[in-house]
Amino acid sequence: MRGLFITFEGTEGSGKSTQIALLAARLREAGTVVHTVREPGGTPIGEEIRHTLKHSQDNAAMTAEAELLLMNASRAQLVREVIRPALQAGQTVLCDRFYDSTAAYQGYGRGLDLATVRAIIDFAVGEVRPDLTLLLQIPHILGEERLRTRRSAIPLVRDRFEEADAAFFERVAKGYRAIAEAEPGRVRVLDGSGGVEEVRAAIWQLVRGMVSGIGAKV
Ligand code: TMP
Repeated sequence: MRGLFITFEGTEGSGKSTQIALLAARLREAGTVVHTVREPGGTPIGEEIRHTLKHSQDNAAMTAEAELLLMNASRAQLVREVIRPALQAGQTVLCDRFYDSTAAYQGYGRGLDLATVRAIIDFAVGEVRPDLTLLLQIPHILGEERLRTRRSAIPLVRDRFEEADAAFFERVAKGYRAIAEAEPGRVRVLDGSGGVEEVRAAIWQLVRGMVSGIGAKV
């Protein structure tokens, strides 16, 4: 029996990590084995790539092409080391970002050719595809506000992506809208600007029917 693969998408500050933690806890209560992973990262090799992409002091000159390939190197490792074995064992995987992030950020955001982006994604993921993708949408201004609050609570190291301008994030948001329109069955759009509890309840409405099918007690 193949397990359930759910990915979470959205721009910075959309509340993905909070909702992943809540959903994982709920699913574990229902008796499901759940893995939570993030991209880029999620494996020792992937976390090193994440550092290079986001936080390294020496990454300012990174080209969009190198960025695309590094994202997918991390992904290729994560799929084979964690996601595929877990799904084959009938377990559930919740992933903080997956290939829609690449289409939105490297395709729409950086302006790389979408067909090339998709071909590289296909090579990285093989046959693995999410069963459900939850896209948390928030206005850019709210995302920025949430990031500022987070940064004041924990002094984070620099993040190359957060240094991008508002126009970049507008293109990313437009990319996400296009992805959701193209695959309405897989990609479900949720308003991430509401309260944590409201978003949690909306996610559970979408997920509960799927998990009862894989043997969880819901
Ligand atoms: P986050 O884990 O804090 O969301 O940071 C990951 C950053 O990497 C975020 O700015 C989005 C970006 N990203 C891409 O540009 N392409 C990708 O394929 C992935 C997975 C993430």
